[in-house]
Amino acid sequence: MIFLLFLVLTLITAQAAESESLLRPNGVRLSVHSLTEIINRDTLKPAQENDGLPIAPMHYVELPLNHGDPTSPKFRNRYWVDDTYYSPGGPIFFFDNGESDAGGTEAYLRKGATGSLAREFKGYFLASLGRLEESVNLTVPGTRLLILWEHRFYGASMPDMTSAMRFTPDKIADYLKYHTIEQALEDVVVFAKQFTFGNEIVSPGEVPWVFLGGSYPGARGAWMRARNPDIFHASLASSAVVQLQMNFWQYYRVVEETMAKTGYGNCSADIRRLNKWVDNAFDNQNGSAVDQFLEKITGPENSDLWNFFHFDDSPDPEEIWDNRRLNLRGAIEIIFRDFQYVGMNGVLRVFCDGLQYFGDPKRGRTDFRNASGIFEAHNASAAIDIYAKVLAALWPKILDPTDYPPDGVKIDQVYSVDCAISQSTCKEIITLWSWVYQTCVEFGGYQTANVSRPTNLLPKFETLENDLKDCKGWFGNAVAGGPNLDPINKKYGGWNMNPSNVFWSDGEIDPWRSLTPNSIEDNAPKRPSTTKIPSSGSTAGGNTFFGFVIKGGSHCADLGQHVGQGPDENRTNLSPDTIGTKVPAGYVPEADTAHNLFKGALRIWLPAFKAHPLSSESTFNRDTVGSENNRPSRSNSDDEDGEKGLATSLSASRCFYSALIVIGVCAML
Ligand SMILES: *[C@@H]1O[C@H](CO)[C@@H](O)[C@H](O)[C@H]1NC(C)=O
Ligand SMILES: *[C@@H]1O[C@H](CO)[C@@H](O)[C@H](O)[C@H]1NC(C)=O
Ligand SMILES: *[C@@H]1O[C@H](CO)[C@@H](O)[C@H](O)[C@H]1NC(C)=O
Ligand SMILES: *[C@@H]1O[C@H](CO)[C@@H](O)[C@H](O)[C@H]1NC(C)=O
Ligand SMILES: *[C@@H]1O[C@H](CO)[C@@H](O)[C@H](O)[C@H]1NC(C)=O
Ligand SMILES: *[C@@H]1O[C@H](CO)[C@@H](O)[C@H](O)[C@H]1NC(C)=O
Ligand SMILES: *[C@@H]1O[C@H](CO)[C@@H](O)[C@H](O)[C@H]1NC(C)=O
Repeated sequence: MIFLLFLVLTLITAQAAESESLLRPNGVRLSVHSLTEIINRDTLKPAQENDGLPIAPMHYVELPLNHGDPTSPKFRNRYWVDDTYYSPGGPIFFFDNGESDAGGTEAYLRKGATGSLAREFKGYFLASLGRLEESVNLTVPGTRLLILWEHRFYGASMPDMTSAMRFTPDKIADYLKYHTIEQALEDVVVFAKQFTFGNEIVSPGEVPWVFLGGSYPGARGAWMRARNPDIFHASLASSAVVQLQMNFWQYYRVVEETMAKTGYGNCSADIRRLNKWVDNAFDNQNGSAVDQFLEKITGPENSDLWNFFHFDDSPDPEEIWDNRRLNLRGAIEIIFRDFQYVGMNGVLRVFCDGLQYFGDPKRGRTDFRNASGIFEAHNASAAIDIYAKVLAALWPKILDPTDYPPDGVKIDQVYSVDCAISQSTCKEIITLWSWVYQTCVEFGGYQTANVSRPTNLLPKFETLENDLKDCKGWFGNAVAGGPNLDPINKKYGGWNMNPSNVFWSDGEIDPWRSLTPNSIEDNAPKRPSTTKIPSSGSTAGGNTFFGFVIKGGSHCADLGQHVGQGPDENRTNLSPDTIGTKVPAGYVPEADTAHNLFKGALRIWLPAFKAHPLSSESTFNRDTVGSENNRPSRSNSDDEDGEKGLATSLSASRCFYSALIVIGVCAML
C-alpha cells in the first residue's frame, strides 16, 4: 500500500566521523504497507490469531540480482503460500507486501480483502479451460492459493550483505544499486513463471493470477498489468500512486482541508504559529531556542528518547543546523504520522485535543473541536511550552524506544554495525533505509512546505533543496542527480495509464490520492472514472478508467480487516461523534463498496481467462528503464515546477500502531 504512500518519519542524518562519512538514522520518514500494518491500523488493536488455522509456510526463490545480466549473482527472495482451503483450478491471489519487512504478514492473509476474495472465488477457472473438468468438484467451496510476496531489499529478501559492511553512504548506495522499480517487477515475473505447488496446475499460462496491492504495491499491480499482461490477468490498484512527482506539497493540502472541515481549524492555526516560531529560530540561527524546545520533549522524563534524537557537538556549523532541522522534523511532524490511514481519528486529533486540555485543564477532557487554540489563549512562550508538553506526552506512546532502532541497537551504535558480523541486525537496518533510498533515486514525492499557502502546515525548512541535500548525505554521489522520475512516468504513462483488468480504488481523504488517476489536483488530468465493469481485456473506453473513490476513506481503505467481512456491530467509522477517549478505526462503509466492485469485476474477468503460452524471454529491458540506480551521470528530471528534490516516505513506522491503542486524551494525562 503506497505508498506507502508514504509519514512521520524516521529521519536520517549523515554525519562525518573522522575521515569517513557515516550514515546515521535519526528520526524517520518510513513506509510500511504490509497487510499486518493495514489490518492493525484498521482496528487499532492487534489483529487476532488467524482463526486458529496453521500459518502459511515461508519459502525462498532464487532470483538474479540484476535481471539485465545473465551472469548476475543470485539472491534469495522470500514468499509465503497459504493453501488452507486449496482446491484445484486457481485463481492465484498474489498479495504484494511492498516496502517493508513482510514477516508476520502471513498470519493475516486470510483477513480483510485478501481473505474475502479467497473465500469468494472457487477453483473453477481451470475447469473453464475444459481441461480438468472431471476432476474438479465445483461445489466445494474454499480458498484459492494465496501468495504473499516480499519485495527485494526488504526483510529477509536481502542480497548478500557483505558488501554493505559498515554504513558509509557510498557502500550503502552501491549495495542498493539494483534496487529499482523495474528489477523488482521482473522479480515477480520470473517467480510466477517458475512457481510450482506440488503437482497442481498453477502456471500463469493456465490459471489466472491476480495481483493485489495498495500504495506502492498498488502501483506495482497497475504497472504489472501494463508490462506483463500474460502473467497477471487482473490487478487491484488500491491507492496506487502511479504518478511520480518530485515536489508533493499537495500531500498537506489534504490534511489542511480535513482539519478545517472537522472543526480543528484553530489547531492548524496553532501548528502554523509554532512553525513561525521555528522559522524565526532558524532565520536567526537561535540554536539554544531550538535545543531547549527539543529538550522539553526528550527529557528528563523521556530520557529514552534522548537516544532517538541527536544533539551533536559537531564543529561544522552547517551540520549542526541540519541535525536540528531533522530532529525538529521528527519531533513536530509526528502529529501527522497516521493521518493518511485514519484521518482525524488518530494522533492528530489526540494532539489537538491535548493542546487544549494542557492549555486549560479545567475544560474537561473530551471534545475540543472549535476550541480557540492555545496561541490565542496564552502568550507565545507559554503556548510553546504547552506545545512541547503535549509532544512530550505523545512521543513515548507513539514510539516505543525499545522497538526502534532495530534489535535494541541504540541509535548511536547503528552506524558502527558491521554487516559481515551481524547480518540480522543489518537486514533490519537496511530495511529502514530501503524506502528512503527508493525515494532518493526513483520516486521523489517529497512532502514539502508550500509557503505561499496561508494554510501551510510545515516549517519553511521543508524544501526540496534540503531533501536533496539529505539524500546526498545518506547515499553519497550515487544519488547526486536526484530522483529520476522520467523513465517510469514515460514508460507507463503516470496517472494517464490505462491497462485493462485493473480496478483503481482510492480514499477521499488519502493524501496519496493526489498521485493516482483519481486525483483532483490542478495538475492532474482529472480523467473520468466509471463503476461500470469493462469486459475482460478491454478498457472503459477513451480516457475513462474503472475506478472508485471511497467516501471518507483513507489510504488503502479497501484492504483492511473489516473489508468484505459483512455486518459487524463493532466497526467504528469516521463519524465526528466517535471522538473522545478512544481512537476509532479507519474503516468506512464505502470500503466495502469498492471491494464489492472489484469482486464483481473478477466475476466477469476470471471466467474470461484463456490458457496461453508463456514466453521464455526475459521481459526485463535494461535499455528502456534503468537496471541500476547507481549512475552518477544520470540525467536530471524536472517536475512541472522545474524543481528537483526527493520523495518522502509513504507511511508510518512499524512500531507505531500498537502504541496507538492506548493513546487517548485520557491516556495522556
Ligand atoms: C463434491 O463435494 C461435495 C461437498 O463436499 C460432495 O457432497 C460431493 O459428493 C462431491 N462431488 C463429487 C463428484 O466428488
Ligand atoms: C465545530 O465546527 C464544525 C464546523 O467547523 C461544525 O460542523 C461542528 O458542529 C462544530 N462542533 C462543535 C462541537 O461545536
Ligand atoms: C533565542 O531564543 C530565546 C528563547 O526563545 C530567546 O530568549 C532569545 O532572546 C533568543 N536569542 C536571540 C539572539 O534571538
Ligand atoms: C476558532 O476559535 C474561535 C474562538 O476563538 C471559535 O469561535 C471558532 O469556532 C473556532 N474555529 C474553528 C474552525 O475551530
Ligand atoms: C506568559 O504567560 C505565563 C503564564 O500564563 C506567565 O507566567 C509569563 O510571565 C508570561 N510571559 C510573558 C512574557 O508575558
Ligand atoms: C503552492 O500552492 C499553490 C496553490 O495553493 C500553487 O499554485 C503553487 O504552485 C504551489 N507552489 C509550489 C512551489 O508548488
Ligand atoms: C463485538 O465485540 C464483542 C466484544 O469483543 C464480541 O463479543 C462480539 O462477538 C463482537 N461482535 C461481532 C459481530 O463480532
